[in-house]
Amino acid sequence: MRLSGQLVPFTSLLFLYCSLTVSALKTGDWKTCSQSAFCRRGRALAGRAKEAGANWKSPYAIEPTSVVVAADEAAFSAAVKSSIYPDITFKLDLQVLDDGVVRVRMDEVDGLRQRYNEASNWALNSEPSVSKQIEWTVGKGDVRAVYGAKKDISVVVNFSPLKITLLRGGKEEIVLNGEGLLHLEHFRNKAEPPPAPTEVPEEGLDGEEEAQQVMEVNSASSWFEGEPDGYWEESFLSWTDKKPKGPESLSLDINFPRHGHVYGIPQHATGLSLPTTTGEDSFFDEPYRLFNADVFEYLASSPMSLYGSIPLMYAHSASSTVGVFHVVGSESWIDVAHPKDGSTNTHWVSESGILDTFLLPGPTPEDVFAQYARLTGTPVLPAHWALGYHQCRWNYVSSDDVRSVQQRFDEEDFPVDVFWLDIEYSEEHKYFIWDKKNFPDPVDMTQDVEKIARKMVVIIDPHLKRTQDYPVYKEASELGILVKPSSGEGEYEGWCWSGSSSWVDFFNPGSWDWWKKLFKTTPQENGFSWIDSTESVGIWNDMNEPSVFNGPEISMPRDNVHYGGWEHRDVHNINGMLFSNQTWQALLARSNPPKRPFVLTRSFFAGSQRFGAMWTGDNMGTWEHMAVGIKMVLANNLGGMSFSGSDVGGFFGNPEPEMLVRWYEVGAFGPFFRAHAHIDTKRREPYLLDEPYKSIIRDVLRLRYKLLPMWYTAFRETSVTGIPILRPQFVMFPKDEAGFAIDDQYYIGSSGLLVKPVTEKGATEATVYLGEKQAYYDYFTSHIHRGNQKNITVKAELHQIPLFIRGGSIIPTRERPRRSSPLMKMDPFTLRVALDDQRKARGELYLDDGETFAHEQGNFVWREFKAEASKKGKGITLSSLDLAAARPSDAVDGKALSEYRGTNDFAASVSPVKVERIVVLGLGGKPTSVSTDSGAPLEWDYYDGVAAVGKKEGVASILTIKNPGVSVSSDWNIVIE
Ligand SMILES: *[C@@H]1O[C@H](CO)[C@@H](O)[C@H](O)[C@H]1NC(C)=O
Ligand SMILES: *[C@@H]1O[C@H](CO)[C@@H](O)[C@H](O)[C@H]1NC(C)=O
Repeated sequence: MRLSGQLVPFTSLLFLYCSLTVSALKTGDWKTCSQSAFCRRGRALAGRAKEAGANWKSPYAIEPTSVVVAADEAAFSAAVKSSIYPDITFKLDLQVLDDGVVRVRMDEVDGLRQRYNEASNWALNSEPSVSKQIEWTVGKGDVRAVYGAKKDISVVVNFSPLKITLLRGGKEEIVLNGEGLLHLEHFRNKAEPPPAPTEVPEEGLDGEEEAQQVMEVNSASSWFEGEPDGYWEESFLSWTDKKPKGPESLSLDINFPRHGHVYGIPQHATGLSLPTTTGEDSFFDEPYRLFNADVFEYLASSPMSLYGSIPLMYAHSASSTVGVFHVVGSESWIDVAHPKDGSTNTHWVSESGILDTFLLPGPTPEDVFAQYARLTGTPVLPAHWALGYHQCRWNYVSSDDVRSVQQRFDEEDFPVDVFWLDIEYSEEHKYFIWDKKNFPDPVDMTQDVEKIARKMVVIIDPHLKRTQDYPVYKEASELGILVKPSSGEGEYEGWCWSGSSSWVDFFNPGSWDWWKKLFKTTPQENGFSWIDSTESVGIWNDMNEPSVFNGPEISMPRDNVHYGGWEHRDVHNINGMLFSNQTWQALLARSNPPKRPFVLTRSFFAGSQRFGAMWTGDNMGTWEHMAVGIKMVLANNLGGMSFSGSDVGGFFGNPEPEMLVRWYEVGAFGPFFRAHAHIDTKRREPYLLDEPYKSIIRDVLRLRYKLLPMWYTAFRETSVTGIPILRPQFVMFPKDEAGFAIDDQYYIGSSGLLVKPVTEKGATEATVYLGEKQAYYDYFTSHIHRGNQKNITVKAELHQIPLFIRGGSIIPTRERPRRSSPLMKMDPFTLRVALDDQRKARGELYLDDGETFAHEQGNFVWREFKAEASKKGKGITLSSLDLAAARPSDAVDGKALSEYRGTNDFAASVSPVKVERIVVLGLGGKPTSVSTDSGAPLEWDYYDGVAAVGKKEGVASILTIKNPGVSVSSDWNIVIE
């Protein structure tokens, strides 16, 4: 950050921020559990329960006479009371949804105030549909329902103490309040005394009496929360949080008695299979924290909060995968323990909100992903260009700088799709307003980039500089749509890049149309619009946790007031998602017909996958950060955020050439592929490197582009099914225990590609775990490896990426180097057919125009390629068939296409596109003929190597069919005899 000559009042603040960014992380800037009153209370409760052991009993119980079963739906409700606060009543309601997911809600009835109950309105894609088929049986001590295709799932709600259990085949899968840690702190008046402790048992009682006493102690006195701890006010460093509503936290234990691995709750810099945080020998001693925060230079292994929060956890064992989605928007802390091998206990404590928890019954990984996607939506299908390579830096400093970087990419033959502008494009960080000194011709500059079918992405942050000469602030202020301070009056003012700033309250629907108007590229009657931009520009939403330099934990005071009177604490983790949603909506409204928006967000919540991409924030240029970035991207994928990536090179620092090369090799195998760098770093565009590094990176970029058909097909699949793009070992092989903790290698979509990026300095070899007996083909050498639940060791010199094709897969690529991805539109395809040990293979290819929504009207090509035994039996037939025609119900976003035409406009436009080469690996015998099914001979050559069938390893036999003359969008057969 260049500070010289900057505005005086906030120079020192910015300086403080910037100097922090170059020193080591000050963990002390963020709370630990013991510095957060409600977390402290939650952990203390767990501590008392543990101490009491088997005597601990939850005071929460259902009033049996209050149970009401809905007449025509799988829903029931009941009154719940806690024996500690007999005057307070809660309402519990349960629903079983059409797909077997159980929704559990509990809220205080007629309390002094309403708890925040809108988190699900934002997270859910639509109101879930409640099953009509399930019947509840109300017994003396419980209510239960049995359901599922095989009638093997049941949900049991025990009355006293309250306990909710999801079972499969009679065995407990998910248990709520099994440990008795459920607690909703009710709203109270400040004067209300805490409940009186019961008397402590006297010495010298006989055994039975003593036991009796212990019970009483545990049901009342140990439950008593002790002296009010941080109920009405709490301080952290120099900030005091006035808590006008008093305590309202929510504590819940969620146990998985039969699952030894839990995944999810992104985002944290940690292993994919979540390490323990409590219990003996716990890996971390702090709970995982979900509190969206601008944690610069975060630690490479820590349960600390980062920029986004998805309160979704999956539990996995060889027998099943289940999940819980705990829809809370306030700060939350989660403890994880394995009380014994193969079981997991978790404890969730949140600052506010109702209890609203979905139990996802699985039982396979694909099932839980689909169940979660039905709730919060699938990842939106991005524009095709967004899968190319993105070049970013804080900052490209002028129009000429942008032009010359673009020119250098072209001179050096590096493909790239997108050039990015960070905050310095704007005048005094007034976003939308160009710094005309350095960017005198923004539209011309953008059009120069767009000439080569490239795009620009420009940053828009949520803080608005408080000055009347900034029309965006002025309009927002006049509309009264800015976040309010704790008084509920006026505008909250804090410090960010633009100095004294205010923040738009996107919870206020009154801000939505206004935000849309700002992005219009033509003049608007009602105020400012971005005429200095073009319709194709993508937007980068940063700092939306929100980041406030002079706020508590670099964010907003929790008692700030949002639309509807809710406090910031209630909505903190949701806030960032609303910003990226509104930007996404604005870009959608910008052009007619609409084009697919590109929005990158740093902050996110459950549901953010509906609005575009995210990245893992301000990472460091270290090997540790490179390695943990992979695990974070995997965890984000499990959380629905498939379109994610880590900054290549690391945001901070000056990576040496070897590290930078490895980082490109990592980035090229992430869904979102962007290089970015801090303003204090040396320029590191890939063309600046010496040989051999420069050429290696060029090859890596080209490899990314060659594989774009595979990536796009994977993106389309997740946009329909919700199954993540990056699939770790446990997702692919859910019964193979040895793979459950593996998080440094993964499969991409359903393609059959397995990659193990190298993240070790000086590495020349890599170890790759192969979870099955199948042949795995080295992507580059076609060497067949066989693992059979074992590690293999492969060469991994700097230019080598351990990349394998799983036997049984067909990978479509486009091999011609181009400067940007849209230029590949009419390029021919290569198919790599990797036979499995049955001499079969299959693969898919999805294509559409890559930028509009015409695919929703059936304008696309979706092919299945197959290799199977030929009719004569000895040979192999390769075929291409129209999957959309075969499976119209799976075609678009899970929506059935009423009418699908194989000859749709898009398919017709690409009908001249041919398959120019088919490479069949693992045939294991020279063919006598290769011909089309009409008998026309084709040109081919053959290398005699190892067959997919059998046990041998070594270079596979390779049949190369040249120019088979078949179109990529029509049906065909090729017979190999
Ligand atoms: C996204 O914005 C639309 C309006 O543009 C609104 O209806 C919807 O509720 C918003 N969703 C979220 C998660 O912000
Ligand atoms: C594979 O290698 C890793 C270390 O790279 C090791 O932790 C793991 O136990 C090995 N797995 C098997 C099945 O040998």
